[in-house]
Amino acid sequence: MSKKTLWSGRFSEAPHGLARSFSASVDIDKALAMEDIRGSAAHVKMLAGRGIIPKKDAARIQKALSEVKAEIEKGGFPFRDEYEDIHMNIEKRVIEKAGPAGGMIHTARSRNDQVVLDERLYLKSQTALILDGIAVLCDRIVSLAEDCFGAVMPLYTHLQRAQPVLVSHHLLAYFEMLKRDRGRFEDCLKRMDSNPLGVCAGAGTSFPIDRKMTARLLGFSSVTENSIDTVSDRDFMTEFVFCSAALTGHLGRLSEELVLWSSEEFGFVDLGDAFTTGSSIMPQKRNPDIAELARAKGARVTGNLVSLLTLMKGLPLSYNRDMQEDKQPVFDTARTVAGTLAVMSEMLAGCRFNTGKMRESLSGGFVTATDLADYLARRGEPFRSAHEIAGKAVAHAEKKGKDISELSLSELRKFSGRIGEDVYDAVSIEGSVKSRNSQGGTAPSQVGKMLRKARRQISKWGC
Ligand code: ARG
Repeated sequence: MSKKTLWSGRFSEAPHGLARSFSASVDIDKALAMEDIRGSAAHVKMLAGRGIIPKKDAARIQKALSEVKAEIEKGGFPFRDEYEDIHMNIEKRVIEKAGPAGGMIHTARSRNDQVVLDERLYLKSQTALILDGIAVLCDRIVSLAEDCFGAVMPLYTHLQRAQPVLVSHHLLAYFEMLKRDRGRFEDCLKRMDSNPLGVCAGAGTSFPIDRKMTARLLGFSSVTENSIDTVSDRDFMTEFVFCSAALTGHLGRLSEELVLWSSEEFGFVDLGDAFTTGSSIMPQKRNPDIAELARAKGARVTGNLVSLLTLMKGLPLSYNRDMQEDKQPVFDTARTVAGTLAVMSEMLAGCRFNTGKMRESLSGGFVTATDLADYLARRGEPFRSAHEIAGKAVAHAEKKGKDISELSLSELRKFSGRIGEDVYDAVSIEGSVKSRNSQGGTAPSQVGKMLRKARRQISKWGC
């Protein structure tokens, strides 16, 4: 390499080869190339519009930018390490094409505002994709819930069978989680959606720029307030990764249930051949690898969140080169989340529930013991003693190898005189489910309402 340095005015010596390769980021931030070009085109348009640079030079720069864009799209752009990052790579190429006037592109701009601009533009479009991805997954979940409406399964607490619930009710719990996740991304989008361009290196500029104009050109709904904060801030990225960590955490719980439910022991769901794998040694096996990997992605995204929080913690204002390390965790997160949403949506579209097996697994677990206690409490027995009486009835039934509903009325009345013939309705699976008619409860009337509300929500999201 020649002795000429990138910063030719001040430096007389080229950077050490190690320093150069250590600090170069173009291999990673070239993912921001299109955003960088969009931002530069808007910037140049504004500079010319405000009379800061001559119109004819602006036109040459715009032409060079379009050529650079085409080169990148066709894979013919020369990405060069010695120009550090994507911003300098594009600027150098523009100057090569437009001549020295191309250097006007960097009037009233700094890489400090340029990089935040690119990152905000990039994350805005990634967030829009994720919002759509969540809506699609919700649609799949709600379709499954609609299809199996009426089917029952055990609700587990501590992974022990606890109470009978509708399968649709259980599935809709995931709809609620994902709806909150989507809301978090929408909220995060509001803070991302502010134009940082024009804060320059951090103190603003002496040129008569128009930040509202670039905001309009680039589709931002506001302009950031404080130039120092703008070059220092990466909260919008941390927040995006936090939203992603919360989402992948939820997807991990759903994946975990699919792993459990698809086991021989549960037999609740068939994930289908397209989303399971065989074993290289045990021919009988059908492994839920895709669900397992989806479960694992939360670890990776949470790691990215910790990286970003740690990177930013304790940095003095304003820009520090440390911040160049913000990109990998964010790019990796966006890619991971989009991939996980897509694969889970497809896997759920093809899976089949074995509702017969779910129903069967309700027998023998005394899952309506709470209903016996509630029955007694409705007849005036204080709940604490009702609970004890029901416990004794369960112990007795267990000894006899029967379910509560299989005990005779006279057997049951030994535990409490309050028990009458109608107890059998109360302790049946269907009776239990139907009785839980409190708001948000598992009764078909409640779950039906939830289903209709979920459907309305999904169509509002455009699905
Ligand atoms: N590549 C840098 C980054 O991603 C761009 C900003 C550089 N600014 C600077 N003053 N060195 O953070």
